[in-house]
Amino acid sequence: MESMRFKLKIWRQKDRNSPGKMVDYEVSGISPDNSFLEMLDILNFNLIKRGEEPVAFDSDCREGICGTCGLYINGRAHGPGKGMTTCQLHMRMFKNGQTIYVEPWRAKPFPVIKDLVVDRSAFDRIMAAGGYISVDTIGNPPDADTILIPKQDADRAFDAATCIGCGACVATCKNASATLFVAAKVSHLALLPQGRLEAKRRVKNMLLQMEREGFGSCSNIGACQVECPKEISLENIARMNRELLKAILSPHSDD
Ligand code: SF4
Ligand code: FES
Repeated sequence: MESMRFKLKIWRQKDRNSPGKMVDYEVSGISPDNSFLEMLDILNFNLIKRGEEPVAFDSDCREGICGTCGLYINGRAHGPGKGMTTCQLHMRMFKNGQTIYVEPWRAKPFPVIKDLVVDRSAFDRIMAAGGYISVDTIGNPPDADTILIPKQDADRAFDAATCIGCGACVATCKNASATLFVAAKVSHLALLPQGRLEAKRRVKNMLLQMEREGFGSCSNIGACQVECPKEISLENIARMNRELLKAILSPHSDD
């Protein structure tokens, strides 16, 4: 099997308060079928063998589900692949001998913790502001499928629910806006009857929290949709804006 080698320029930063810099590395013996994270594992294995500090990066599921692995690779969120996370990217997508730049998400509300690891707890606080439904589970709660939902709504809600909270939309946006993320979460619940009860409060509170966290506003560039590994559509932003209008114009009506 072909063995590949790469020159890497990786962002190294001791902690949140220290300045960081790009550091050069070389890695060889890489299979085209290695994932990007496996390539970094091999680099780290070599660094540890040499007594050097391994490169810190985040990962968990390594199959495109958890959203922890986001890296900025050669100037693109999650690298050159379309509709995939960094952990789903394979080295066959690069040229043998290529120089690869690896950086963390760059956005003020995502401060660097170490090297390539950023603090995305701002997303957790946005979710806590309204990304849930309140259900009384005491006694004999109804089955979840008691309420029939039109197939088209269920499909749209499901599409929105595929957002994994990775933050690529923020990292790629020149305004560092989290609008696509918030729109996906608002849409997911707004499209389902179980989410309607708190819909007006939800959209206002989540957008307010987004602003408080320091994310920028949306200026309709659309880079977020292009770089989103789950291909969350801008339609969700339009839906969220309609939800916000309803909440502002008729705050006391049922819907
Ligand atoms: S909208 Fe897409 S890019 Fe943004 S957090 Fe969700 S999955 Fe990631
Ligand atoms: S490690 Fe979970 S999405 Fe990449």
